[in-house]
Amino acid sequence: MSITVRAAAKINLHLGVGRAREDGFHPLDTVYQAIGIHDDLTLSGADGLSLVTHVADHIDPAAVPDGPDNIVLRAARLLAEHAGREAAGAFEVRKDIPVAGGMAGGSADAAAALVACDRWWDLRTSDDDLLALAAQLGSDIPFSLVGGTARGVGRGELVSPVEDPASWWWVAVPATEGLSTPAVYRHFDALHPDAPEAPASAEPLLAALATGEPLRLARALHNDLQEPAIDLRPELGDLIARGEAEGALRGLVSGSGPTVVFLCDSADGARETAVGLAGAGHDVVLTATGPVAGAHVLA
Ligand code: C5P
Repeated sequence: MSITVRAAAKINLHLGVGRAREDGFHPLDTVYQAIGIHDDLTLSGADGLSLVTHVADHIDPAAVPDGPDNIVLRAARLLAEHAGREAAGAFEVRKDIPVAGGMAGGSADAAAALVACDRWWDLRTSDDDLLALAAQLGSDIPFSLVGGTARGVGRGELVSPVEDPASWWWVAVPATEGLSTPAVYRHFDALHPDAPEAPASAEPLLAALATGEPLRLARALHNDLQEPAIDLRPELGDLIARGEAEGALRGLVSGSGPTVVFLCDSADGARETAVGLAGAGHDVVLTATGPVAGAHVLA
């Protein structure tokens, strides 16, 4: 007997970043979209807590944090503590989401662990409590629970769903070596010591999204962490230019990077861009559509 929960990668269609708050976090106005690159987490009964991770070919197994600090085990312990019970279970995670790639792979696993434990332990935790626990674990974990397309404010943890009936085509190119999210935020601070307190508004992006037109959305994509990410990894700028030359409407660093995502006009456009990027020597090129569901039980 076991339960399997699927959780999706996220990209930020808009990521407005304001000046760091007193607590060190940056105020955000962001629009998340869950896209069809997934991790699957299976939980089965056991006396203690354990975790085994299997990774897709494009992921370096050594890059996956293991040990008791892994976000899956932290999520299980936090929910158990909230429910006043012991944390027990054997977790197995199959990872397809790039690690330390700016696509919320760890956050997806944490959201999947919360959903799996809640069901396996028959806790029936309220949505509000699950979202609050998710926010304690990380800023974008509430979004990994909700999925779809959603606006995030605060430090990104306060999410509200956004109407997004279209289906958008994306090509994602992960990097071999991840980037540290805190390091990218620190570099943003260094480049923009006078950043305004209020982050750039997501309203123009939301207006473009509502048209359902890929070209309008492409023009509105915005990421304030792209400049620091490219400054730390100049090759990301070349990759964006290359994908756009291969037919993508627009390339963008995903979150804090280093994964680069390309918005394409159609399935054919995505295939063409992916083939072009593979031909240019990029070994790992993923194609996905969004929005897709948040963390949900598969079986
Ligand atoms: O919340 P999470 O654990 O995902 O954040 C990781 C790190 O990213 C934080 O410790 C902080 O350095 C940075 N961060 C930030 N502002 C945010 C979200 C994250 O500075 N809104």
